Amino acid sequence: MPAVPAAVLAIVDAQVRKLCARYAKRLPFHGWHHVSFVRSKAVQFAGANGAEVSVVETAALVHDVNYLVRRNSPAAAGGRLRQDMLARAGVAADTARWIEDVVVEAEMANRGPDISLEAQALSDADTLFKALPVTPVMLSHRYLAENGITLRELADKIVGEQQDKHDEGYYFYNTEAAATYSRWAATNLMLWQHIRESLDDDDVTDLLDAVNAHAAAS
Ligand SMILES: [Fe+2]
Repeated sequence: MPAVPAAVLAIVDAQVRKLCARYAKRLPFHGWHHVSFVRSKAVQFAGANGAEVSVVETAALVHDVNYLVRRNSPAAAGGRLRQDMLARAGVAADTARWIEDVVVEAEMANRGPDISLEAQALSDADTLFKALPVTPVMLSHRYLAENGITLRELADKIVGEQQDKHDEGYYFYNTEAAATYSRWAATNLMLWQHIRESLDDDDVTDLLDAVNAHAAAS
């Protein structure tokens, strides 16, 4: 029997969908579109690496509830809400603690080369979302709005948190994911390094100030 039975997982799914629908305006980046992508990919990575799939799937569903608790917060800020949701859905207490550990272990800012198989599957899925070529084009401005940070702060965060994982060879844990997606990750990291460089040019910051003033006025 899976650690999270299918009927219990369905309740967690329904809870998260409901929260994402109710607070869609507060979650333009980390809403259901993000959760469902990460869930789908995490399940595939868990199937490939032998992780406990139901734990990974449940962890993926609740991994970003911290953004409902506090803007621009770490995963741990969602711990209490996450545990309440899991308890209400009927997840066993020891499994709920396991899920919490997986979520915190998988977080980009903290993760190391040797994390559990479950955290590896979740991390690869969440990291892939960050590295998708469409993410900076279609979604990054939503991250800025959701979390109330500047473009420079986001560029510093991305390069600061991701470059060492890329350079040290554990950007992706799954070797097939690494082979398939590392080019996208390298392109994405280079883009954000270049964005950071461009922000040192006063004419570029003037340009962005003018764009933002226009957006605020319209
Ligand atoms: Fe995420």
